[in-house]
Amino acid sequence: VLVATEEELRLLGLLTPDEWATKAPKRNIRNVTLNKAELTESGVVATLLLEGADALEDLERKHRSIRVMLDVLDEHLTDLAPGGRASKVLFAVRTRYITDELDMLWHPDITTLGRDTVTGEEVDIPRNERLLVGGASGSGKSWSTRALMARAVVHPDEKLACFIDGKGEEATVWRGVCPCAVEHEEIIDAIEEAHAEMLRRRDLLAAENLSVWNASLGPRLLYVIDEGQAVLQAVELEDKIRKSRRGDEDYEPDKTVMQKLVELSSQGRSRDVILMWMTQNPLRSGSDRGITSAIRANFDYGLCLRVNTPENTETVLNAGSGVEPHNLPKGTRFRGHAYLNVHGRNLLRTWTVTDDMVRLLGYPNHGRGMWPRDVALKTLHGQPDALWTPDLLASHTGCGRVQANRFLRTFSREGLMVADGDKFRFVPQSEEGR
Ligand SMILES: Nc1ncnc2c1ncn2[C@@H]1O[C@H](COP(=O)(O)OP(=O)(O)OP(=O)(O)O)[C@@H](O)[C@H]1O
Ligand SMILES: [Mg+2]
Repeated sequence: VLVATEEELRLLGLLTPDEWATKAPKRNIRNVTLNKAELTESGVVATLLLEGADALEDLERKHRSIRVMLDVLDEHLTDLAPGGRASKVLFAVRTRYITDELDMLWHPDITTLGRDTVTGEEVDIPRNERLLVGGASGSGKSWSTRALMARAVVHPDEKLACFIDGKGEEATVWRGVCPCAVEHEEIIDAIEEAHAEMLRRRDLLAAENLSVWNASLGPRLLYVIDEGQAVLQAVELEDKIRKSRRGDEDYEPDKTVMQKLVELSSQGRSRDVILMWMTQNPLRSGSDRGITSAIRANFDYGLCLRVNTPENTETVLNAGSGVEPHNLPKGTRFRGHAYLNVHGRNLLRTWTVTDDMVRLLGYPNHGRGMWPRDVALKTLHGQPDALWTPDLLASHTGCGRVQANRFLRTFSREGLMVADGDKFRFVPQSEEGR
């Protein structure tokens, strides 16, 4: 049962056919009428009816005027989405997100990136796709990719081959779970080794007369680069040092490290050497660029958290994405939330993998049985006939009331439990799956 907040009641009061008919024309919004508005799990959603061929473009241009007309809070995003017919558009004020109600803690059975904040559906990046991630400092780049890294650790056909961390903070969490490269020498060695492995795989494919890699030849390798600009600077410095040694007797002419890095990004895929690239400065030029044009060209998937400029957005999502991660409000609310270039205009929320959870990955069997979800389920199964409340579950697991509530809602969504007023109970075995 959804209970409207004061702000939602205010919006619903303004989003009526009559209010719209008097206020909208004053803002020069014409050829659009409001049919109805309702409160959903993802905010207040109004159905607008369009007249005339250009009404949609016109409405999109007036997006900000509508925000002002309704005096929407800065923290509430608004969007215009297709309404199922050419003449219908949904205007939504995202006062809430369904993902706020669901358990967003990752566990080893999850194979995706996160959930759509509006529909709640899981959103994935295929395992064989390279991913570019952009986001301002503190927006959640390192955390947002943890689920994909963890997936590579858990999946038997995959290997988290190396975590190359130009800044070094995130790597402290991953030590013991996968190889980490932080110091200058380590970063250069990791790139050289990845490139050598790619060539080894190329030769193996040629010898076996195959065009693409398959799992029987070896695991898919995931190389993760965090803080692209620091890694690029290390590579450029290394190449400069090597160039200056050209006259030395033991100098061996070889490809530059930069060339190898570009080749890794362009040629790795068919050999199952997959690159993930994160940067807080998604620009392709300037001394502190976070990626080069040559490398950027090889990423089909782009995930954009809050960034600082429209140029940043364009680098990650390409032009014409229709979303504005550069306008996401600063602060903690939207950390770990992002837009994915292949997923339309809905905001995503990435799974949460805490530091403690990363460490669980290093345990035998990846710590199965010890994950928060496992603990919650075990507790619930301990008293299968009880009526559970968030408070009760919280007191039994120590996980906090909000998280306990999210567990119960998620289990209900999954059909394991049913909500009975504000209490939850297990679905009797005989009813399950009906
Ligand atoms: N998916 C998420 N779930 C829960 N919390 C998150 C998520 N993403 C980010 N956060 C929170 O935001 C904080 C910052 O995230 P993170 O360290 O990933 O940012 P960053 O973009 O990598 O920053 P930097 O540029 O400083 O490395 C985390 O410590 C965490 O508290
Ligand atoms: Mg980081």
